[in-house]
Amino acid sequence: MHKDEYVIETDKLAKTYPGGIKAVKGIDMKIQRGQIYGFLGPNGAGKTTTIKMLSTSIKPTSGTARVMGYDISKDSMKVRKVIGVVPQDLTTDEDLKGIENMELVGRFYDIPPRESRKKAEELLDLVDLTEFGNKYVSTYSGGMRKRLELIVGLIHNPKVLFLDEPTLGLDVQTRTKMWEYIRKVKEEFGMTIVLTSHYLEEVDELADIISIIDHGQIVVTGTPEELKNSLQGDIIEATFSDSMQSKKFGEYSKSVDVTYPKENVVRMKVKDSDMEVPHIMKYMSDNNLSPIRFSISKPSLDQVFLDYTGREIREEEAGDTRKAQMNMRRLRK
Ligand SMILES: Nc1ncnc2c1ncn2[C@@H]1O[C@H](COP(=O)(O)OP(=O)(O)OP(=O)(O)O)[C@@H](O)[C@H]1O
Ligand SMILES: [Mg+2]
Repeated sequence: MHKDEYVIETDKLAKTYPGGIKAVKGIDMKIQRGQIYGFLGPNGAGKTTTIKMLSTSIKPTSGTARVMGYDISKDSMKVRKVIGVVPQDLTTDEDLKGIENMELVGRFYDIPPRESRKKAEELLDLVDLTEFGNKYVSTYSGGMRKRLELIVGLIHNPKVLFLDEPTLGLDVQTRTKMWEYIRKVKEEFGMTIVLTSHYLEEVDELADIISIIDHGQIVVTGTPEELKNSLQGDIIEATFSDSMQSKKFGEYSKSVDVTYPKENVVRMKVKDSDMEVPHIMKYMSDNNLSPIRFSISKPSLDQVFLDYTGREIREEEAGDTRKAQMNMRRLRK
């Protein structure tokens, strides 16, 4: 693999499942060494299918991809040696100890036992599980189990790590902790990481590059900043004590985008808030409008998602709660 080659490169990669479900409809992407590449999309968008194709566990229907220069169809064995995969579903054995799980995977990769144990200890330390390495996985908390899943995928020193929904079902605090470990893995090993998530905060926090995937297609790709800037505008939100005032405020200008999230709340998208706010202040003063709350914000990934897909990712998350709970139950079992 040449220095300037991409770690992962796909060309019209597509998967249609038996029965005709077009899960992935021809995606092109290029991932550079040392990046965290985030795949953001709602349930059923095709994230796991893409990861499964790239990690050679299923074959594409059409299109191609290269991982570290190896073709995923023709050189799948070589691909497998250089990648680590942490699937969406849990894979560690609860009836084994943490370290035994790691050694088992080490044997699978033909790593000499002594080397495997040394690496396992180093990795347990990396995610603060040293004390628990000799405990049965059945005694682990959900967060500890996810941490173990993360390092099991690293025992054979892969160059690329696939993380499918690394924090699904974890509470917010445990999720934040997991982000720290993922960052550590990237920094300590110079790892290229492909991660999928339907948590906006997660990709915003971790990813260097994000692709938003919806209905099997990539709708936009860029750094979190680029995606937010692409909306070209700031959001101004004002809350009034009555709807008379909010209505009047909404009439401020025909050239700005106005919505009413609630009767008394006005949201405006303006090109450049630094230029617009003085005019808005004057308008409010001229019309005796006094908001009880006034905020200016740069677009969030929420708005980016909404803009590119026409839907809020949170609507999908509602349906996902059940799945997250089910996963949590499995984690606790
Ligand atoms: N083995 C399969 N056979 C048939 N259809 C499948 C199979 N696996 C996934 N699908 C379908 O393919 C589409 C994409 O599924 P995929 O699991 O890739 O989505 P996802 O983005 O990972 O979703 P989630 O956020 O729920 O994990 C969905 O419509 C799903 O129902
Ligand atoms: Mg999935």
